[in-house]
Amino acid sequence: MKIYVFGLREDEIEPLNQWKAANTDVDVEYTADILTEDTANLAKGADGVVALQTQPYSRKALEIIHDLGISKFSVRNVGLDGFNFKDLNDFGFTLTYVPVYSPNAIAEHASFLVGRLLRRVPEFDKKFQSGNFKWFPTIGTEISGKTVGVIGTGHIGSVFARIMKFGYGANVIAYDIDPNPALENLGIYVDTLDELLEKSDIISIHTPLAPKDHHMLDANAIAKMKNGVYLINCARGGLLDNQALIDGLDSGKIAGAGLDVLENENGIFQNEFDSIEAVDDEVFQNLAHRDNVIITPHTAFYTERAVHNMIFDSMNDNKAMISGKKAKNIVDTHK
Ligand code: COI
Repeated sequence: MKIYVFGLREDEIEPLNQWKAANTDVDVEYTADILTEDTANLAKGADGVVALQTQPYSRKALEIIHDLGISKFSVRNVGLDGFNFKDLNDFGFTLTYVPVYSPNAIAEHASFLVGRLLRRVPEFDKKFQSGNFKWFPTIGTEISGKTVGVIGTGHIGSVFARIMKFGYGANVIAYDIDPNPALENLGIYVDTLDELLEKSDIISIHTPLAPKDHHMLDANAIAKMKNGVYLINCARGGLLDNQALIDGLDSGKIAGAGLDVLENENGIFQNEFDSIEAVDDEVFQNLAHRDNVIITPHTAFYTERAVHNMIFDSMNDNKAMISGKKAKNIVDTHK
């Protein structure tokens, strides 16, 4: 049995070797290249494919994999917005994903972004570098007592809600079209997204990017928010309308933003430039130079535990499918 792995990063080699050592009956080959129509043929001879990328999976690349006789496809991450499910169904793929590699990784990161914004860490860092160790005028705000609105309360959003409520003593409210029974007893749910937008001092979004949710937070939604709201996005860039965000920051409606994802992140994140000025992207340039915006390059997920689980869970599921066994996390691509 052979599994071909696309887009393998250096830090994934060690956990992959550990998986291989525990699964000597599987022949594993890999490339650092992501899956595109130019690289798809590398999987020739494999029974299954495992991939991870933020770039979309093209129909042509999937067609080539299908023509190689491969139908078992596993991704090492949770977000599935890079797929057109129709393509997967047309070519008869069974897809697995890793929905719970480490919700804490992302939820903790989101909470750090809140803390760094409210305590004005970027400004203090700049002052420190220039030898200015004075407090004034960089006074902060506390999370305790603030109303934190959590949009989306799946695995990640629910951990974030608990951190904010029980760790920081925030007044947490949440909105989800499908409330999480594990949170019902906290009495945090509001009935509508509008109610959450209107009441929150800090809003953190933790939903997948379904096509209907593109620009869920647009100018209209931002207009409903409190003046001086803080926005956190560790989910998908496409959920937040960049121009509306920039307008909100310019007007002061939005007091600050913590962004681990950007709609235009492909081509920027996971690359190295001589300086941030060398990034040829207007939106990035606009946001990157603000003291009240913190950008992290899609690193919220990036912990040792998460990377280990992403490799193990995806490889286990791919092997299970090839062996005719039940995989743990099959995606319903027909929904
Ligand atoms: C995901 O799991 O979907 C992420 O956003 C992590 C990233 C490595 C793609």
